[in-house]
Amino acid sequence: DSADRGGFKHFMLKEIHEQPRAIADTLEGRISEGRVLPAAFGVTAEARFADVARIQIVACGTSYHAGMVARYWFEDILGLPTSVEVSSEFHYRNPVVSRDTLLVMLSQSGETADTLAALRMVRSRHPDVPVLAICNAPESSLVRESDLVLMTHAGPEISVASTKAFSTQLVSLALLLLAMGRVQGTLSEEIERRIVAGLEKIPALAQAALTHDSAILALAERLVDKQHALFLGRGVMFPIALEGALKLKEISYIHAEGYPAGELKHGPLALIDENMPVITIAPQNDLLEKLKSNMAEVAARGAELFVFADERTALASEERLHVLPVTSHVGRISAPIIFNIPLQLLAYHVAVLKGTDVDQPRNLAKSVTVE
Ligand code: G6P
Repeated sequence: DSADRGGFKHFMLKEIHEQPRAIADTLEGRISEGRVLPAAFGVTAEARFADVARIQIVACGTSYHAGMVARYWFEDILGLPTSVEVSSEFHYRNPVVSRDTLLVMLSQSGETADTLAALRMVRSRHPDVPVLAICNAPESSLVRESDLVLMTHAGPEISVASTKAFSTQLVSLALLLLAMGRVQGTLSEEIERRIVAGLEKIPALAQAALTHDSAILALAERLVDKQHALFLGRGVMFPIALEGALKLKEISYIHAEGYPAGELKHGPLALIDENMPVITIAPQNDLLEKLKSNMAEVAARGAELFVFADERTALASEERLHVLPVTSHVGRISAPIIFNIPLQLLAYHVAVLKGTDVDQPRNLAKSVTVE
């Protein structure tokens, strides 16, 4: 009943609003005096991390998108080769897993059948490969079967569409980046401290991102009658575009696709006309100018644009261009977490306006325990 939902209309909205707290809880006890505590991953973590030469992340759904973000971070900041794959593909294609790999399984529930099957496959073929679970369910099969564990402290997530689990997975992956960099000596103490200070600011930034709710509702009103939507992002915002599209399609049933903005000319541009809304994520970074030219390409073909922007980009709304300034204080780690929040709210409001069953979308389950 409504008491369980904390006065919110849906669990999804409650869980979106719980993100500042969930992120703070996930950081709690894992950092001390500005530095990460590698033992947070388990007593043997330091020894096991020391020999890791590559990371293989395996997950499904929204958890997979969190893994995709982490790949950008690990390779860019640590220079650590990182691959990410959906569990159902990884499981069945005979992947090459070298002994110096750390297998990272990401799962909110810890019971997703394909993710568990992928873990068991690696276990049977490569018993020496260490497995780290990043999971939100302490009693789960995934946690029991892994060598190392970092729990996301999101609290129970009821809504089928995952929100706070995703944000806390990203924070956990940032902690893994710090621990890896610290153990392997690939991160200077100064950069580690800077990243930790950035992480500690995320709960307040997430709280601020939630204040755009009424502006996002106004954007949702413009999307509610559309049949399709295209989400574009570059770099670390590409997985956020995928996640924004997934949220919209799963709860509003509007067909939505996420694309790397640079791929427009290789197909999706053919779909653009005045009936195809385009949602872009525009942080202030060295890819902004490229993104702006992608936006000009779709605008020239009549698309209505919805831009979630850093305030510093100086992008301004005009006819058929709706700019929502989201934040101005984010860095490489916090940006995907913060920019994702308004996309969650956008999907939520479109779904409510359409009158769908927001917390229990048709044909979907919270935890997919059969293949
Ligand atoms: C289902 C849920 C998604 C979730 C995915 C993976 O599809 O509806 O919200 O992201 O499973 O679940 P997991 O528990 O492994 O993160």
